[in-house]
Amino acid sequence: MARYAVIGTPIAQSKSPAIHRMFAEQTKQDMQYEAIEVAADNFDFFVLDFFANGGDGLNVTVPHKERAYRIANQLEPLAKQAGAVNTLFQSAEGALCGDNTDGIGLVRDIQTNNGIAIKNKNLLVIGAGGAVRGSLVSLIREKPATITLVNRTKEKAKKMRELFSAKQNIEVASFENLQGEFDLIINGTSLSLSGEVPAITPDQVGTDCSCYDMMYDNEDTAFVSWAKNNGAANAIDGLGMLVEQAAESFYRWRGIRPETSPVMNVLRN
Ligand code: ATR
Repeated sequence: MARYAVIGTPIAQSKSPAIHRMFAEQTKQDMQYEAIEVAADNFDFFVLDFFANGGDGLNVTVPHKERAYRIANQLEPLAKQAGAVNTLFQSAEGALCGDNTDGIGLVRDIQTNNGIAIKNKNLLVIGAGGAVRGSLVSLIREKPATITLVNRTKEKAKKMRELFSAKQNIEVASFENLQGEFDLIINGTSLSLSGEVPAITPDQVGTDCSCYDMMYDNEDTAFVSWAKNNGAANAIDGLGMLVEQAAESFYRWRGIRPETSPVMNVLRN
């Protein structure tokens, strides 16, 4: 039986095993998928040992995505640009390959699942950590009119702008001087984990504006609640992104694209 796992720490709360098991059942794949707690100092050994012993693929989550980027011998373009890897597998020649499916997951959830356009729209992206870095290339590929990046630590946003400057001109703002209305506001900070919202104002919520939180919870996240209370036309949490990035990893490994909506429905209920 083919063997897959998600590795990170903490990992007990991960929904990835449930998602991949539903994908496997739906597409009739003979495979197992577990969640395994792996600490930072054991990461390299675990990964090499997993593949040496016939493992087929790994998802990598917090806090190991950058370590996985460094350990991979072969990087797919999206992983290279993101500087982070969430999907590992072996090539036919035995090279350890790294890919990043987070950005594809985000874009697919926004555009395909929720029917929200990115092309020619004005985007506000909040945050400048790994979640944002992993998604920016995929957003840029959809050709938004503008991207404004706002982050508590402005220097990090400026560094991010430099990383992507060859592909798109990114406007960097601070929360204090943020102006204008946006069509799509994406929260890529970790603030919802502590029930907080980024310091943007309702002035930023344009007519027909969609707000997207990369975090998710069983109830509305703090940012989703804020968006609903401040005039957003759509307020969406990151569960769809999670399922879509998983589907894209599954496709890398198995060559089959599972249907995501039945899985989303199960998780929502
Ligand atoms: P991840 O990999 O999940 O993106 P990260 O790299 O630690 O995690 O980034 C977390 C993001 O949330 C950053 O943009 C961070 O802002 P800073 O770059 O200024 O640290 C943002 N963030 C976390 N706590 C915050 C807070 N209390 N107020 C504003 N932004 C916060």
